Amino acid sequence: MILRDGRTLTLRPICIDDAELFRVFMLTLTSDTPWIGSNPDEVHDVDWYQDRIEQVLERTGSRWEIAVSEEHNAIVGDCMALPGNRAKFEHVAMIGIGIIEPWRGAGLGRMLMERTIDWARESALIDKLELGVFEHNTNARNLYTSLGFQIEGVRTRAIRQPDGSYHDDVLMGLWVGDDLSDEPI
Ligand SMILES: CC(C)(COP(=O)(O)OP(=O)(O)OC[C@H]1O[C@@H](n2cnc3c(N)ncnc32)[C@H](O)[C@@H]1OP(=O)(O)O)[C@@H](O)C(=O)NCCC(=O)NCCS
Repeated sequence: MILRDGRTLTLRPICIDDAELFRVFMLTLTSDTPWIGSNPDEVHDVDWYQDRIEQVLERTGSRWEIAVSEEHNAIVGDCMALPGNRAKFEHVAMIGIGIIEPWRGAGLGRMLMERTIDWARESALIDKLELGVFEHNTNARNLYTSLGFQIEGVRTRAIRQPDGSYHDDVLMGLWVGDDLSDEPI
């Protein structure tokens, strides 16, 4: 794919062989944004990411796409959709997305989200996408709102940043299954 600024990236599913590149990606991402759930010192070793990738890919109905810069031999973004692991929740996939700083603001985040939503709409298993976003993460909230996600709840002070400040976690959802608007919730 070609970004708005002309840079090119490959979008493809992650595989176990990507574990080391993914670890490096996580080191960068956790260091350059306060808006994700892990701190830099919580990045794991390559074996842990191999296991994680394997576990996610084994989950029925999961999807995990990465954006790769072939020129830099680096993962620069990812978007994961992970369905619930119990029958009553497996129609709902939780989304996680991250893009490292030099690659933000050029349309990649919107593209990864749109591709994930398109996939979910086509999926026979997934009816709903959910995500959590830090209350002050305006860019991400604008993106999700523009894609149709709605606020479904707020986990008050669920986040504590390294400086000790507390923040709310905003839960958002998007229904992608059949139209049930005539049915009671
Ligand atoms: C949030 C994130 C995924 C967005 O991806 P991105 O590639 O930077 O965003 P895009 O360039 O595709 O822009 C998509 C939309 O996001 C919003 N946005 C992006 N940059 C913005 C900025 N600087 N100011 C305001 N809104 C912005 C806009 O709504 C934009 O809409 P547009 O497509 O009409 O321009 C990415 O910036 C990121 O990973 N940030 C750090 C980690 C993070 O916040 N992860 C999400 C956790 S919930």
